[in-house]
Amino acid sequence: MKETISVLIPEKKIIERTDEIATELSRKYAALRDGKPIVVIGVLKGSVMFMVDLIKRMSVPVELDFMVVSSYGDSTSSSGQLKIKKDLENSIQDKHVLLVEDIIDSGRTLQYLLKYLNDKHPASLTLCTLLDKPERREFDVKVDYVGFEIPDEFVIGYGLDYAQRYRNLPYIGVLSFEE
Ligand code: PRP
Repeated sequence: MKETISVLIPEKKIIERTDEIATELSRKYAALRDGKPIVVIGVLKGSVMFMVDLIKRMSVPVELDFMVVSSYGDSTSSSGQLKIKKDLENSIQDKHVLLVEDIIDSGRTLQYLLKYLNDKHPASLTLCTLLDKPERREFDVKVDYVGFEIPDEFVIGYGLDYAQRYRNLPYIGVLSFEE
């Protein structure tokens, strides 16, 4: 089958929106003035590209950490359980945590991570995602910063993959298949 990509969000728009979010986040954290560290947590692998572009534009110092979460069994089923394949390296207790995702689909991953991270008693927990597919939501999660709401299409690029491919495209594209 032939794979065809059409551009959904060009690189320039992603960078402009990332700039806006980074400015808002910097302002919010700078206003806290409590001296507590800020740690940005990326959920691998999809969030890498967005996380890098976001933190480069933030004007407050941040620490970095990463997690890998995956599903047991059928990853497309909402009843599937999640497990942590790579945990945080450092304590987040009493730190301001910014969790960065590439996309929220059912909301299952974020709901799970939210509870997991909250149980570690951070000073605050802020959720930021580049993409949101609200039509697909099955688990109610409150996201603080959303780059773009998108329709229920198969999106790839800028960190997102199809069978591990296309992650390095500098834009968000819609993948379609033709005979
Ligand atoms: C994607 C994405 C989120 C999750 C969103 O990760 O990065 O973590 O799925 O889906 P949900 O809202 O239905 O839970 P994926 O498991 O594809 O791994 P990847 O980041 O390595 O591509």
